[in-house]
Amino acid sequence: MNCPAVGPVIRPRRNRLNPAIRAMVRETDLGPADLVWPLFIHGKATVEDIPAMPGCQRHSLDSAVNVVGEAVALGIRAIALFPAIADHHKDPDGTVGLDPDGLVPRCIRALKSAYPHLVIIADVALDPYSSDGHDGVVRHGRIDNDASLPLLARLAVVQAQAGADVVAPSDMMDGRIHAVRAALDAANLADTLICSYCAKYASAFYGPFRAALDSAPRARGNIPGDKRTYQMDPANAREALREAGLDEAEGADWLLVKPGLPYLDIIASLRAATTLPIAAYHVSGEYAMLRAAAGHGWIDYTAALMESLTALRRAGAGMIFTYGAVDAARALA
Ligand code: PBG
Repeated sequence: MNCPAVGPVIRPRRNRLNPAIRAMVRETDLGPADLVWPLFIHGKATVEDIPAMPGCQRHSLDSAVNVVGEAVALGIRAIALFPAIADHHKDPDGTVGLDPDGLVPRCIRALKSAYPHLVIIADVALDPYSSDGHDGVVRHGRIDNDASLPLLARLAVVQAQAGADVVAPSDMMDGRIHAVRAALDAANLADTLICSYCAKYASAFYGPFRAALDSAPRARGNIPGDKRTYQMDPANAREALREAGLDEAEGADWLLVKPGLPYLDIIASLRAATTLPIAAYHVSGEYAMLRAAAGHGWIDYTAALMESLTALRRAGAGMIFTYGAVDAARALA
């Protein structure tokens, strides 16, 4: 009956004894070079706060150059640009996005001349430019996949010609990676990388982003005011492997999973299935939740951010898009 009073022989806690031991056995690291900072820009000369994303602003070109300088000084090597376009410039085809002197191309040129080594990632989708707010073009009462492809390809070429190092199709149309690759190659842009949002889910966590850009999808006729006919069903995991396989075969250089934390299983399964670099997008709603809870004093923003980013790395993401990139880089410094 009486158990001898011996302690356990094997004690995992020895590996947590002090900070030095913990650092030696740590399996996952996180550094500023792993982070991509998404930046909102607009055509105004002012800087505007984004209410649902405390700490994030819509920047003028001058302000973008300034804040990116701070990020670069902290070791961040890559940014992703997202434009807020005034409604009266939008049309169903998103034509304003194709202007080589438009907001995004001008910003790319300004940033490239200030920071030649900065990696600039440009988003390829029609939603910020389109009066329908959809990522593909609306024709004859439907989101027309094949009519979207040449528009997306031209958008990518315009961005790459302005100096974007990476174009990132986030639209989830079928066949767009092939269309973008072919158009880039035909335009002598064989060195431009493609980061494919291959597993992009129809997520409620994009809300603050759509408010920031006034880019929410609009219902019209048969077209629903959501993106569920092209973005993936959150209930599906196997389908992400199918999407990833297609995008890899079509020529994607990187694969991106989005949102981040709710989809760690998807990141891990893609990591096991492909040799391509994998990115995760810690999206606006995830960031807003951290800020909101921290604003109430309910969590420590920086600690929760670092834990979130570490979890994304642990799941298998090589790089992480996060609005907290500068905060994280500062915490790491
Ligand atoms: C649109 C796009 C979206 C995001 C990045 N690109 C929103 C959407 O699909 O509606 C979301 C990013 C975020 O929520 O942080 N092409």
